[in-house]
Amino acid sequence: MKYQQAIITGASSGFGAAYARRLAAACERLVLVARRGEILNELAAELKTDYPGLEVQVKVCDLSAPEARCGLIAELKSQLLSGKTLLINNAGLGDYGELASATAVRNAAMMQVNMLALVELCHAIAPLLKAQGGAIINIASLAADLPIPDFAIYAASKAFVASFSEALRIELHASGVPVLAVCPGPVHTEFGQVARRSGCSDGAAPFKKWFYSTIPTVVDGSLRALERGKARFYPSLKIRMAGLLVRNMPLPVLRFIMGMRPRKVTATHPES
Ligand SMILES: NC(=O)c1ccc[n+]([C@@H]2O[C@H](COP(=O)([O-])OP(=O)(O)OC[C@H]3O[C@@H](n4cnc5c(N)ncnc54)[C@H](OP(=O)(O)O)[C@@H]3O)[C@@H](O)[C@H]2O)c1
Repeated sequence: MKYQQAIITGASSGFGAAYARRLAAACERLVLVARRGEILNELAAELKTDYPGLEVQVKVCDLSAPEARCGLIAELKSQLLSGKTLLINNAGLGDYGELASATAVRNAAMMQVNMLALVELCHAIAPLLKAQGGAIINIASLAADLPIPDFAIYAASKAFVASFSEALRIELHASGVPVLAVCPGPVHTEFGQVARRSGCSDGAAPFKKWFYSTIPTVVDGSLRALERGKARFYPSLKIRMAGLLVRNMPLPVLRFIMGMRPRKVTATHPES
């Protein structure tokens, strides 16, 4: 696996930071995107110390803001090197709780970051990938297969990512550009803390703890899956089987099971 450059969104924590550390040895240049510039700069300094020949660009960008995304895309188009490029659309956020008490701002941010930013970046970079080679990794979720009460927009946004990635993969196949959708179950990152509303009970399904994976399992496994030309990556057999089961379950049965799921005690998100 050798790329001239990799663009990683959501590189300031969780999977994104781990992708940056893994890819530092395999790229000449990394472009790290997120809102928290200080953390990105610290990561860039660490990577440049560990890999002296590596160029690291930090792009501080709020991917929920359309103008900021336009600016990012214009910069990327003017500054990208020619050569094989890996685009990792990883930035994402959730919001635990019922729709009725959610905030419009939070709902919009989730849809902008999880779907629009991902599509716009694929759209902007696809011509370069077709001309010079490369690949796309889109971070979906096991939630892509499930309509989840109290997580409705998030799960639907990940269903969008999975479906979009499958179609884009077919479009780019003839150009030799693989597209991988990564579908993790729960993983300990900052994700849960960001998604939790203050005063909101956890309300997690009792079996959730059985499905946890680790960051390296997701990141290393997905990079191997990309190399092997896979369309989807589930980080464990349990997650793969859960996805398979849900996709093949009659809808009335799925509705019944999801209706039995413990509900979260609702509260408005602190950012309201
Ligand atoms: N952890 C899980 O259980 C799990 C399971 C399945 C799928 N996923 C998916 O995995 C991906 C990575 O999540 P993670 O678990 O690593 O969570 P995380 O630690 O919370 O990381 C999320 C990343 O997204 C960035 N981000 C969020 N909002 C942004 C915005 N408006 N503009 C720019 N960047 C933004 C954050 O950076 P800043 O805050 O610095 O902007 C951060 O770097 C997400 O797409 C998530 O949906 C996670």
